[in-house]
Amino acid sequence: MKRRTFIQLIPTISSGLFLPGSLQAHTIFNTINRKDFGNDFVWGAACAAYQVEGAWNIDGKGPSIWDTFTHKKGTIYKNQNGDIACDFYHRYADDIALLKYLGIPNFRFSISWSRILPNGVGTINQRGIDFYHRVIDTCLENNITPWITLYHWDLPQALEDKGGWTNREIINWFSEFVSICTKSYGNKVKNWMVLNEPMAFTGVGYFLGIHAPGKKGIGNFLPAVHHAAMCQAEGARVIRANIADANIGTTFSCSHIDPKKAKERHFLAAQKSDALINRLFIEPALGLGYPTDTIPLLKRIEKYMHSGDEQKLKFDFDFIGIQNYTREVVKHWIFNPILWSKQIPASKRKVELTEMGWEVYPEGIYYLLKKFAAYKNIPPLYVTENGAAFEDVLDDEYVHDNKRIKFIESYLKQVLNAKNEGVNVRGYFYWSFTDNFEWAEGYRTRFGLVHIDYTTQKRTVKDSGFWFKKFLEE
Ligand code: FCB
Repeated sequence: MKRRTFIQLIPTISSGLFLPGSLQAHTIFNTINRKDFGNDFVWGAACAAYQVEGAWNIDGKGPSIWDTFTHKKGTIYKNQNGDIACDFYHRYADDIALLKYLGIPNFRFSISWSRILPNGVGTINQRGIDFYHRVIDTCLENNITPWITLYHWDLPQALEDKGGWTNREIINWFSEFVSICTKSYGNKVKNWMVLNEPMAFTGVGYFLGIHAPGKKGIGNFLPAVHHAAMCQAEGARVIRANIADANIGTTFSCSHIDPKKAKERHFLAAQKSDALINRLFIEPALGLGYPTDTIPLLKRIEKYMHSGDEQKLKFDFDFIGIQNYTREVVKHWIFNPILWSKQIPASKRKVELTEMGWEVYPEGIYYLLKKFAAYKNIPPLYVTENGAAFEDVLDDEYVHDNKRIKFIESYLKQVLNAKNEGVNVRGYFYWSFTDNFEWAEGYRTRFGLVHIDYTTQKRTVKDSGFWFKKFLEE
């Protein structure tokens, strides 16, 4: 089963009105220019600890759920793992130099929890703390602003052994980790993201079981969701307490969802899918609660709620990170009594696909920005991830990845559209800076602006990297 089969189910319902995507989107543009976005617009590239660092058992790091999961046969494409990955742990200085060369002024990366706390809580690994000091200092010396994600999916295995995200204790465990990170780096780093895509790691890791830790079923999923939503707010409160001038956000995976046809039953299917995929984590943070009105089964989450939780789920974020790659088309389906919907795979829809099998659908990012902007009291939005994997061929020191350039341009045009229509979107981070370990897909799919030869660790800037450099210089 593919990762987006869960993240498959999404519509636009900001005004309760559904219109087929093609009727709403703006698609005709000629040129795109950095200046159009204004001088303050934040430009960056992103990565995550497990996907790039390697050094999985070096300098005191404890194992994470991704170490355990990838070391199990049959979980990952060709049984690959992140043991070495891009060896960012040893090559971070070269990679940051490359960021500087490309003129990319902001770098989003995550902290490996089990590098800081090998057992998840308790004894601190000073060598882990020092590593991120080196990364941060190198960024700052090169005039690159660090943006830190606190949790990008690599839970310490020691905590998974106690139930991981299904154990309510995680609120305390996570707070301890966040406290250590913010006290260590808070005087140098001001931009923080609490979680990366909670819907993805709870859905794919605790419901479908195709990501670490490989758990399945609603009985794992619902407590994981509630505890992640609690940590989202609690982690943010810890940052606020420790760093007075922090810019605090969290990030969401989102996809625009269209119904298969303009028929009521398909609209309803799309609406339910949207509630699960796009609304589940933002709405409790905004004080709106879980979308139980649209998906009654979610009421079962109350079993895991303690008195006062509803209040504690809220946090006044400084920004929200939108992460978008594709859209989904769904139809009414009676065999899914939770959502009454089924995804129609992009491969069956005669649309342009990326190597992930995801549809190229730039208008989707426009709809999502508009949709999120429509919430009352929504803080500024940043696109904290967007990008594409295409088949890259390293040809005599070059990678001519025109499809990726076209992809970025077309998505950026839609971001600009939304911005010009008043959406308060303040930044864009391309995913990913370098090729890296793409979870269940291993090294098969490449998203980078920079190509990595995993046998030699040689970096080669792709044409898209040069395109971005030129774009940023203009
Ligand atoms: C996002 C993840 C990121 C990467 C991209 C392709 O969902 O946050 O780590 O895998 O997809």
